[in-house]
Amino acid sequence: MGTYFKQQDLDRLRDLRQTLIGIEGRPPGEEAPRYWHDLRDIELYDQIFGARIGWKWDAVLDELEARHGFPEVKTVIDWATGTGVAARKVLARVPGIEAITLFDRDEAVLEFAKRSVQAAFPSVEVTAVTEPPSESSHLAIASHVLDELEEEGVESLRQTLEAADHVLWVEPGSKKTSRDLSVQRDRFLADFQVLGPCVHQGTCGILTPDHKNDWCHLFAKPPAEVHTTGEWSEIHRELRIDLRSLPYSFVALRRRSLGHPEPVQAGARLLQRPRVQRGRVLLDLCDANGVREDQMLQRTDKALFKELKKSNGEVLFLDVSEGRAKPV
Ligand SMILES: C[S@@+](CC[C@H](N)C(=O)[O-])C[C@H]1O[C@@H](n2cnc3c(N)ncnc32)[C@H](O)[C@@H]1O
Repeated sequence: MGTYFKQQDLDRLRDLRQTLIGIEGRPPGEEAPRYWHDLRDIELYDQIFGARIGWKWDAVLDELEARHGFPEVKTVIDWATGTGVAARKVLARVPGIEAITLFDRDEAVLEFAKRSVQAAFPSVEVTAVTEPPSESSHLAIASHVLDELEEEGVESLRQTLEAADHVLWVEPGSKKTSRDLSVQRDRFLADFQVLGPCVHQGTCGILTPDHKNDWCHLFAKPPAEVHTTGEWSEIHRELRIDLRSLPYSFVALRRRSLGHPEPVQAGARLLQRPRVQRGRVLLDLCDANGVREDQMLQRTDKALFKELKKSNGEVLFLDVSEGRAKPV
C-alpha cells in the first residue's frame, strides 16, 4: 500500500507506463494499442505523466517566448489532445487565444480534456471532435503522439499542421521518436520557417549518415516539487522513474507566407546534456554547418564550466572555438 497513492493506482500507472513505453518499439505494421480503459486511467495519466509532459511544454514555451516572442493567435487545434495538457499549457502562456479545437479518437479522454480546458479557461470557446479537423488554425499543436501513428495517421496530422500559420510539436526525447520528428521537420522546410530548436533553416544535421546513432534531444527542468513532495517521491520509488530527467524533442514552425524575416540566432544550439570529463566538458552542438562534438576547457572559464556541468536545459546557445565557450 502506498502512502499517497493506492496500490491499485500505482499498478495502473505501472501498466500504463509499460504500454506507453512499448509503443515505440512495437513491430512494424502493428497498430498501437488503445490504453484509455476508464476514467481512472485518464485521471492518473493527467496527474503524473501529463504533468511531466507539461514541464516539457514549459521549456518549449520558454524558449519560443525568449527567442521570438509568442505569435498572435486566436484559434488553436490540439491534434490527439489526450487529457489536454498541451492545450492547457499553451492557453496559460500564449495571450489572445479565443477558440480551441481539441481532437482525439478516444471519446472518454476527449471529454476529460474538454472539461479540464473549459474549467481552466472559461472565456475560451472549446470544441471537441473525434474526426481530424479540416479547418485551418492560427496555431496547431501536437504532443506525444508520433510513435502511435501509422503512415495514414502521420499524413492526417500533417494535414492539420500544414494548414496552420504556426506549429508547435513536442515529442519524447527517445532516439527513434526524436529522429522521426527530425524527418517530419525537414518536410516542412519549403513552406515554414523553423523557430526552434534549430538555429538554421537547412535540413536536419542529425539525419546525415555520420549521425546515425545520434538524435536531437533536450532536457527540461522539472519543478522543485519533484524533489520535495512525498507524492513525487513515491512515484519515483514505485515506478522507478528518474524524475530529474525530462528528455524531449520539439519543433516550432512559422508559415513563410506570413512574410516574417528569416529568424536569426547567433551561436550553435546545445543538444542533450554537456558531458563532463576531467578538466573539460564535451558539447554536442548544432548549427548551419551540421551537428558536431566540441569541447570547452575548464581553465578557460571556471564559472561557465560549473554552469554547464549542472546544466539542465538552461544554456541553449554557445559560441565554441579552440576549447573556449561563450554563451550567446
Ligand atoms: C500519449 S497520448 C498524448 C496525449 C497528449 N497530446 C499529451 O501530450 O499528453 C496520445 C493520444 O493520441 C491519441 N491518438 C492516437 N492515435 C490517434 C489517431 N490516429 N487519431 C487521433 N488520436 C490518436 C490517443 O487516443 C491518445 O489520447
